[in-house]
Amino acid sequence: AAAFVLGLHQMNSPATARGGNKRSAAGMTVAVVATFIWLFVREGSDLLNNPMPIVIIVAGFIVGGGVGWVMARRVAMTAMPQLVSLFNAVGGGGAALVAIDDYIRETSRGNMEVSTAIFVVLGAVFGAVTFSGSLIASGKLQGVVSGQPIFFPGSRLVTVLLALITVAGFLLLVLSAANVVALSPEIEMLTLGVIVLAGLLFGVTMTLPIGGADMPVVISLLNSFTGTAAAMAGFVIGNPVLIIAGALVGASGAILTKLMADAMNRSIMNIMVGGFGGGAAEGAAGAGGPGGDVRTIGLDDAAIQLAYAQKVIVVPGYGLAVAQAQHAVRELAELLEERGVEVSYAIHPVAGRMPGHMNVLLAEANVPYPQLKEMDEINPEFSRTDVALVVGANDVTNPAARSNPQSPIYGMPILDVDNARSIIVMKRSMRPGYAGIDNELYLNPKTGMLFADAKDGLMELVAAVKQV
Ligand code: TAP
Repeated sequence: AAAFVLGLHQMNSPATARGGNKRSAAGMTVAVVATFIWLFVREGSDLLNNPMPIVIIVAGFIVGGGVGWVMARRVAMTAMPQLVSLFNAVGGGGAALVAIDDYIRETSRGNMEVSTAIFVVLGAVFGAVTFSGSLIASGKLQGVVSGQPIFFPGSRLVTVLLALITVAGFLLLVLSAANVVALSPEIEMLTLGVIVLAGLLFGVTMTLPIGGADMPVVISLLNSFTGTAAAMAGFVIGNPVLIIAGALVGASGAILTKLMADAMNRSIMNIMVGGFGGGAAEGAAGAGGPGGDVRTIGLDDAAIQLAYAQKVIVVPGYGLAVAQAQHAVRELAELLEERGVEVSYAIHPVAGRMPGHMNVLLAEANVPYPQLKEMDEINPEFSRTDVALVVGANDVTNPAARSNPQSPIYGMPILDVDNARSIIVMKRSMRPGYAGIDNELYLNPKTGMLFADAKDGLMELVAAVKQV
């Protein structure tokens, strides 16, 4: 438990996050080994006579751990949200199975306590909702299910009905455990089955109407549900580590969900009601860009501006991640620093597609942590900056968030790139970003558009700066 708490704390900063991850994993390893030792102490002779349970656990470990290891190593950084979602599904499904197994056992013994009934049913419900909801969320992000909000006639009503069925079933089972109503074990099992089924369907109908752009927030919420389901499973089987780990995941997932919603200026309720962001998932590819003329800038001009600047702020976004241009941007920054230019990176909390996306990406390229500046810290700096170099970022720089109450991103805190003396935007076209809206920044007379793939463009820029 101490390792989990300390590990989480270390994740506060990119400089210590890797260590925090290892420390938490070490804590989990200790917990698993201790549970095994405890199992052998408690049931050693039985296990020697019938080793099947151990064989199953070890086989599950090898298969599940092996698949997880390979997937986590192979996944592209931009596909991380859907992998996290798949892991949420597995966690939620696991917690639901533990709860169902316990319910069957306690019911057959005929001594279900009220507290057990509460935790078991909550574990089964949260687990079932997380399982199906996370599978749909993962499918949407992977493009297996349409990223558009999906509504069918009466879909909201069905969702409400499913929620009511689940709550009614929950109350029935708890009242039965309290001997207020008398249900036969068969009816109790049937009720649990109905609850689990309603939970599974609820997960689907809850997630389908949510647009692709909001998916990462929903995944974070489902992550919080997984933790809650695991904590419930911990209560059911009396395992303190599961309770603590589950509660930590549940709480941190809930906080992260709130932070992400705030950074997009949306309420969690507004996101869950759905219908926003679907067009954005398609990148609104048909849009031709903002009306008005934009000024393009050539590589050599951009290189001269950067090389003779005193202060440059790089604004990385999703495009930098897709293009895997983190090493190229670090190379450019180092080259400029050798020429005496002060370089820093402006990190918007929802730049990219997952929390901490830019931090992870730039850390991978060994960009020094002190150069990464959070939004509040860097925003006052733009007015003292000669060149803001925006690489594959769009929505997080859109001044409409400040000035246009009609804009879907109105109120979202943004990076004040337009305050810089000169702005260079590197992206491939005039296509919009995730929110699917045009960016007024591109019409600003101070802005020069450098149309290029982020990686190729940055590498060419490095070569051009070397010539200056
Ligand atoms: P976006 O607004 O999505 O813009 C990314 C831009 O990158 C696009 O306009 C695209 O333009 C460009 N691009 C794509 N591939 C490129 C490549 N290979 N080379 C160069 N440019 C490329 O990105 P952002 O500014 O990082 O904003 C993130 C968005 O995601 C926000 O709307 C945010 O609310 C949303 N979101 C984020 C999160 C988290 S937690 N990070 C969660 C949910 C939603 P071209 O096609 O013209 O190149």
